[in-house]
Parts: sequence; C-alpha cells; structure tokens
Amino acid sequence: MTQINKGFSKLSKEEKIDWIVSQYFTNPQEAKQTVTQYWNSDENIQKLHDEFIENTISNFYLPLGVAPNFIINGKNYTIPMAVEESSVVAAVAKAAKFWSERGGFKATVLNTEKIGQVHFLFSGNFEKLNSFFQSIKTQFFADTENFTKNMQKRGGGILDIALVDKTNELPNYYQLHATFNTKDSMGANFINTCLEQFAKTLENQAQQNEAFSEEEKKIQIIMSILSNYVPNCVVRAEVFCPVEQLSDDANIDSKEFAEKFVTAIKIAEIEPYRAVTHNKGIMNGIDAVVLATGNDFRAIEAGAHAYASRNGKYSSLSHAKIENGIFTFWIDIPLALGTIGGLTNLHPLVKFSLEMLGKPNAEELMKIVAVTGLAQNFAAVRSLTTTGIQKGHMKMHLMNILNQHHATKQEKQQVLDYFTNTTISHSLVVDYLEKIRS
Ligand code: MEV
Repeated sequence: MTQINKGFSKLSKEEKIDWIVSQYFTNPQEAKQTVTQYWNSDENIQKLHDEFIENTISNFYLPLGVAPNFIINGKNYTIPMAVEESSVVAAVAKAAKFWSERGGFKATVLNTEKIGQVHFLFSGNFEKLNSFFQSIKTQFFADTENFTKNMQKRGGGILDIALVDKTNELPNYYQLHATFNTKDSMGANFINTCLEQFAKTLENQAQQNEAFSEEEKKIQIIMSILSNYVPNCVVRAEVFCPVEQLSDDANIDSKEFAEKFVTAIKIAEIEPYRAVTHNKGIMNGIDAVVLATGNDFRAIEAGAHAYASRNGKYSSLSHAKIENGIFTFWIDIPLALGTIGGLTNLHPLVKFSLEMLGKPNAEELMKIVAVTGLAQNFAAVRSLTTTGIQKGHMKMHLMNILNQHHATKQEKQQVLDYFTNTTISHSLVVDYLEKIRS
C-alpha cells in the first residue's frame, strides 16, 4: 500500500514527481518523461504556472481555438475558446457566420449586482436584533472603508446590507445579506474581505450592546462568503430575422425549421432531462470563453444552473418565439465576470485573449460570453432538428479516432477522403483503417 507522505508539499517539484512515479507507476521512467515533457522551456513562464497552485508538477494543455465573425452590437469579434470537445469551435464559428449575415447578435447587460452573506446564530427575538442592526448599519460601511475606498473610486462598492430572518428554516439562523457592485473585477476577494469585516463588526458591536442579555451578546458567526448565485447580474443576448431567412440550406424549409426549432426550445423549457443537455450545450460555449479569459468557470456553471431552476423546476436558459413573421432566439444568463484582477493580468494566454477581444470591460465580456452561449446553442439545436448531431460531431471527432490508432499522415488523408460523404462511426473508421493497412 502507498505510504502517507506527510511532508509532500515541502518537497521540490522533481522530488514530488519522483515520489509519485515510484509509488503509482509500473514504468516510473516513462511516467516521469510523460509529465516533464509538458514543462515550458521558458523558466519564467513555467515558474508562473508553478505558482498558480500548490503541488504543481506539470502543465495540463487544452487547445485554445478561436471563433471569428461574431458581430455583437455592430462590432466584429474573434472569440477565444479553451475547450477539448472536438466539434464545439467549428459549430459555434458556423453559427457566428450565419448570424453575421442576418444582422449579428444584440446583447444587453440587465444588471450587475453581486451578493455576499454573513451567516450567524442569535438566540433572541428578531425585533431586538433588527433594531440593533439598524443602529449599527453605518458602522459596517465605516469599518470597511479601507477596502472600499479604491472600489468606490472606480464607481463600485457596497450597495446595501440587509438583515434576514431565516429562523423558520433553521433555529436562531439569521443573515447579513449584502449586495455589491464590483465594476470590472469579478470581486470575490473584495466581497469576502468586506464580509469578514462585517462579521467582526457584528460580533464586537453585539458584545457592547447594552440592550442585549448576556446570551444575546454572544452572536455566533458561522461563516462569511460571497454567493455564486447572482440572479441580478444578468445579461441578455438575442438574434432575430424574418422566418423565411432562417434556412441557408436548399434542402431545409425555413418555416418548417423555425417551427421545429421553437418546439425544441419549448421541450427544453418544460422537460428537465432535455433542459440539462440543452444547457450543457450552452455551457460548451460559455465555459470555453470564460476559461480563455481567465475567469472561474465553476462559479459560472453553478450560478447558471441555479438560475435555470429559479422557478422551482430546472428549465432551459434560452427561449425562442415566432411573432409577426419574425423568428427571435434569446438567452438570459447570470455571469459574474471580471476583466481585471485574478488571472487576467497574469496568464500570458489570458492577456492575449483579452487583447484579441479589444480589452473589454466586465460588461462587454458578459455580452461576448452570453452571445457565445447563444450561438453554441443555436448550432446544437439546428443540428439536432435537421441533420442530427452525429454528422458534425463525428466529422470533428474523426481526427481523435485516427490519432488514437496512430494513423500516419497518408492514412489520415485516405480516411478523410473516404468518409467525406459517408456516415462516420468509431467502428467504421477503425474497420476502414484496418482495410487500408492490410
Ligand atoms: C454536446 O456536447 C452538446 C449537445 O448535446 C447539446 C444539445 O443537445 O443541445 C449537442
């Protein structure tokens, strides 16, 4: 059995690798070679990556692709996407080109409010706590002035702090529910720093409050943390065109396609099993841009799926309608993104991605990301309701199958030629490859 290694984090990078390969691999030399071959030859870049996290042993590559021809509010963008799934970039790029010929995408930020909470226990009644809270409310702002000064200069800061009674759901449980504007930063550190100060202020002030009994003075702070659920930090992206312009394929009738498309969206609105896959398709695009621009895709994922359930049943994030001969397709999605702070100024490829996007502010990035999600969703639902998803997917996946089977350049070309107009499946490709080889 592998020994517990208590001093692991103190080992050098090379010692860590040596320990790992000796413990877990049948061929330690080969394993070491695999992991070290991804080290960057530029020591400074490698050091930067080593220091992003604890116990770095190597770099884990994802392809960085780009999707050109996105017209958003009249401006042309090439969008960076870090993603491993074969057909994602090809599909979204096709949708971008399609809509660029129909007026492009429109995007509007609906609001930008972030949220954080101090969760605490208080063993007294709400009225007493509330009058204490109202009497010290300005103190929360005063005690956080050191942290909020800079944010206020940029036009942001703490918007409000409310006391919330949750004792119906958990005995003695209350919250300070605070709202923030963090401008161009995602704001996690700013919010959490403010919240931890609110908690200290609350505790200290309660101890000094003459109106509280000894028991009531002992407010117990459970935790202070931002919420990744941001239903008031939402952006809308939309496309529209006359129904008769919805098909660019002579084999697909525009009206029939528009109606089928709207029905597919209605199904995702009412059927959770479909909604999850439908929204996963949206997140294919969203996560890829979020990752390429140095933002936290787990936060975005968690917030998006919570928003998709906000009416008590998991549902589609996108919607579609036909009204007066116009097809409209849109998405409302919460996106707490930043274009300063975090990795944005640190990771060279993130800097590259943001510069390629014209150094957007947070609101502009929200629009770009929402549009990418909508375009990705359009591409998926169009394939699903017309040709089926496998045609495009397998075409892109073909190269993965060929690489898995170590096909040579010549073999790849032969296989690509053969499958140009033939249904692709893993087994058909392998059979054909074997046929060539024999
Ligand atoms: C695959 O990654 C995403 C899709 O399943 C999305 C969808 O079904 O809408 C194609």
